Amino acid sequence: MQFKLKFVLASALLAIGVAASAQTVIKFSHVVATDTPKGKAAEFFAKKAAELTKGKVKVEVYANSALYKDKEEMEALQIGSVQMLAPSLAKFGPLGVKEFEAFDLPFIFDDTADLHKITQGPVGASLLAKLEPRGIKGLAYWDNGFKSFSANTPLKAAVDFKGKKFRIQSSKVLEEEIRSVGGIPQVMAFSEVYQALQTGVVDGTENPISNFYTQKMHEVQKHLTLTNHGYLGYAVIVNKKFWDGLPADVRGQLEDAMKQATFYANKIAQDENDLSLDGVKKSGKTTVYTPTKEERMALKKAMAPVHTKMAERVGKETLQTIYKETGFDPEKL
Ligand code: LMR
Repeated sequence: MQFKLKFVLASALLAIGVAASAQTVIKFSHVVATDTPKGKAAEFFAKKAAELTKGKVKVEVYANSALYKDKEEMEALQIGSVQMLAPSLAKFGPLGVKEFEAFDLPFIFDDTADLHKITQGPVGASLLAKLEPRGIKGLAYWDNGFKSFSANTPLKAAVDFKGKKFRIQSSKVLEEEIRSVGGIPQVMAFSEVYQALQTGVVDGTENPISNFYTQKMHEVQKHLTLTNHGYLGYAVIVNKKFWDGLPADVRGQLEDAMKQATFYANKIAQDENDLSLDGVKKSGKTTVYTPTKEERMALKKAMAPVHTKMAERVGKETLQTIYKETGFDPEKL
């Protein structure tokens, strides 16, 4: 009897051990707070992945640059130290896929409907395919929103940017955007922005309000102008070798989880940004300014030459396809 009990116990422990060792772990690293569109969608995906794979896959989400900063995380994915990321589209230019920098062009999309024509159409798919020779598989596009400019002095017209240092992501297009209005671009990792603003290393920055608020930038920026001048969104990517090596049924379940997470991400993005804007306003620390139609148009015109200057780099063909879909024409401003 005692022997039988021991045998049953040992078998149960063995079964648990086998089940545990059969579990696949996906490390999902990102640089923003959990309470943002990307942060929440990553958590949603983790939950769905566990549910749909019945525990065969565990997604560990590391928010707020806990594992890696911007540039390091891309390298970590390529060597397989993490399996999944959702970098902003601007982060693919430095990887050599310069067409992604089209998304950084100022005022190229009027709204998310315009944007989705691209991310959810053939251009979006062909851009993701360009990542494959770099060992990366693109799974989906997740929205954040449109960026606004902030500084310690009001920003109403192009002249207000003159001589001021603005933190940007590493993107040649964003460099030109800041230069087009006489500002000085400073490339910096996202995790370093708060301190750089606090200590005056830079005067201002650009980000969707959800990032601005959750990184507490409103505590160190006196003015925020709702310019909505450029898009910031993400591509969810995985290490291709890891992904292709998953059992087909598990990969299918994860694809399903990603589909649901993408729907969720794109559904909550605008609301999250609206809530963050309320938070900024309630804090009373930053003056929020909505530019008039004329002021916004003047900024759009001032930044329009960036399109022509960067056309060669971004790829004229990609640009023409985007312009055709969205109706944007920098020459006609
Ligand atoms: C930034 O660096 O400003 C953004 O890419 C951060 C993010 O991931 O939203």
